[in-house]
Amino acid sequence: MSQNLEQIRSREWFYTFELPGGEKTRTYHGGSLDAIHETRWAMLRDWLRQRFQGDLGDLRVLDLASHQGFFSIRMAQMGFGEVIGVEARGQHVEDSSLIAAALGMDQVSFRQGDIHDIDAGELGQFDVVLMLGLLYHLENPVGALRTCRALCRNACLVETQIVPGMTGQVDFGSYEFVRPLKGTFGIIDETEETHGPETSITGICLVPSLDGLLWIMDKVGFEQPAVLPPPPDAYEQLRHGKRVMVSATV
Ligand SMILES: C[S@@+](CC[C@H](N)C(=O)[O-])C[C@H]1O[C@@H](n2cnc3c(N)ncnc32)[C@H](O)[C@@H]1O
Repeated sequence: MSQNLEQIRSREWFYTFELPGGEKTRTYHGGSLDAIHETRWAMLRDWLRQRFQGDLGDLRVLDLASHQGFFSIRMAQMGFGEVIGVEARGQHVEDSSLIAAALGMDQVSFRQGDIHDIDAGELGQFDVVLMLGLLYHLENPVGALRTCRALCRNACLVETQIVPGMTGQVDFGSYEFVRPLKGTFGIIDETEETHGPETSITGICLVPSLDGLLWIMDKVGFEQPAVLPPPPDAYEQLRHGKRVMVSATV
């Protein structure tokens, strides 16, 4: 345990973790990103408190793109009985496992995996599926949302950047066959940044518009996808609607 703490203290982290005794990890952004993490945590915690009352010990959580385990650990601290984080980058899996061990949390585990390759049959289904900060780094966001649906047996929270949408009618093969646009995808290039700890692993990113995201979530089988209102003191991107947290149920 003390060896774990020494290792944790010796470096900087993406998240501010509270360690036993109240000590906090140092971050490599000097705390400037704490607000986005805390806003998202407050939004999802408040929504989950309304949806799940009483003992959470029998409930399973899946945290997709778990990074260093910030949300997985908060979910376990909230009382969820089993939390699994899946993360593409092996270094993050090691780091999150180290933090969980230092906090003595054996109900949380992490494994390496690409959301595009997840075998939903092998993992089983979860009461809560979190996909935070991932969708806009993916080249197959529709497939990822289908995976979320396959893995979910109660509630899902998707938090993502969105792009401005286009609306209108499209001549789909002929002026006699006109279809309405249901949403838009923006293409973002991260091909030069795939080495970064927070980025896409392939570099080709398709970012949805809000109407497109809600429409796709409905079509892959979620019920009542809805944007959670950000609190007045939310991180600016959430306050200005540049990113959203969407709740949905099955
Ligand atoms: C912006 S960070 C978000 C981390 C965390 N979920 C959060 O919201 O704070 C994006 C994370 O997605 C991971 N990632 C990128 N592509 C992935 C993929 N195809 N499958 C699983 N994880 C992926 C990255 O390694 C990184 O940890």
